[in-house]
Amino acid sequence: MAQQVNHALPVGFQLDEYRIERQLSLGGFSIVYLASNREGQSVAIKEYLPNSLALRAEGKIEPSIAEEHVPAFRYGMKCFFEEGRALARLSHPNVIRVLNFFRANNTVYMVMEYENGRSLQEFIQKNRPAITENFMRNVFTKLLNGLREVHSHKLLHLDLKPANIYMRNDYTPVLIDFGAARQTLTDDTPMLKPMYTPGFASPEHYHQRELLGPWSDIYSVGASMYACLAGAAPQAADGRREKDRLVPAMIRWERQYSDQLLEAIDWCLCLNHLYRPQSAYALQKVLTEPVGPNGTGPAAGGRKAWPGQMVEKSKTWLGQVASKFKRRAEPE
Ligand SMILES: Nc1ncnc2c1ncn2[C@@H]1O[C@H](COP(=O)(O)OP(=O)(O)OP(=O)(O)O)[C@@H](O)[C@H]1O
Ligand SMILES: [Mg+2]
Repeated sequence: MAQQVNHALPVGFQLDEYRIERQLSLGGFSIVYLASNREGQSVAIKEYLPNSLALRAEGKIEPSIAEEHVPAFRYGMKCFFEEGRALARLSHPNVIRVLNFFRANNTVYMVMEYENGRSLQEFIQKNRPAITENFMRNVFTKLLNGLREVHSHKLLHLDLKPANIYMRNDYTPVLIDFGAARQTLTDDTPMLKPMYTPGFASPEHYHQRELLGPWSDIYSVGASMYACLAGAAPQAADGRREKDRLVPAMIRWERQYSDQLLEAIDWCLCLNHLYRPQSAYALQKVLTEPVGPNGTGPAAGGRKAWPGQMVEKSKTWLGQVASKFKRRAEPE
């Protein structure tokens, strides 16, 4: 089906108690606006508007939905609402704060705290030299705090990637754009595309959704870390299962970052979900361990946080992959 282009609500539009200031983004599933509340404070409002099902023509307020798309649109709306409800239960500095959600214009809106900053995706594209060992550890340790909170509420993010990690101006990360509810859309409604992003989605995202768990978000965290160093997404997991061309972080950035950090990335990116860190906490423990004196080598015993069995499995995996790539010349 041809992709439609949805028009945003006009600037100055009074949406419930909020005034639309401007459009922040246009995604395949929704539009995000900057708006202000009655007190004049800024909020971000996300409007449910999947462009495969609903079309808002220029100058119109209510989207038009073809008769045959009404059930899927309504089901998606219910899931969007669920997502808002689930998020509203969370209150954590590294998870986007949901303030309100309501129905209007034949669709639904989620009101969030407005954060000043940019997505990690934008950041890594414009600030490559800032991606230091410390930056990586700081950002991802805090991000994992947010993810622990999400997982502790029995929620999965399922669409973690640099574009869905927002960076405040003080470099603290905030998890945005939860796909947890949305993924349920795809199972029964073919009109809504699967909500995962190649390169960041775990292998089980593709075909074995019954295996999804915290370790699936962990794969995406590893892929996001890899993308920070590479400046681009790693090879997609389904392609890796066919022919794994992903150069392990340990090889690609040897001596540029600590072994500990690079090993942690490779650990997250294991194709077998059982070989990855099983919880955000397990990964966080590795990222918060001290590094060696020159800032690059692992501290003595630095790997003790890895469960022994995992170390062995990861080593075997790394060994297998490493043999496929020509090692860089040893330093002089
Ligand atoms: N609370 C917020 N504060 C500031 N900016 C935000 C906020 N939420 C979203 N944004 C902006 O909107 C962009 C897109 O947000 P988000 O990732 O939630 O939606 P999306 O990817 O367009 O959604 P979808 O994939 O559902 O269509 C973010 O990268 C960010 O620039
Ligand atoms: Mg997004």
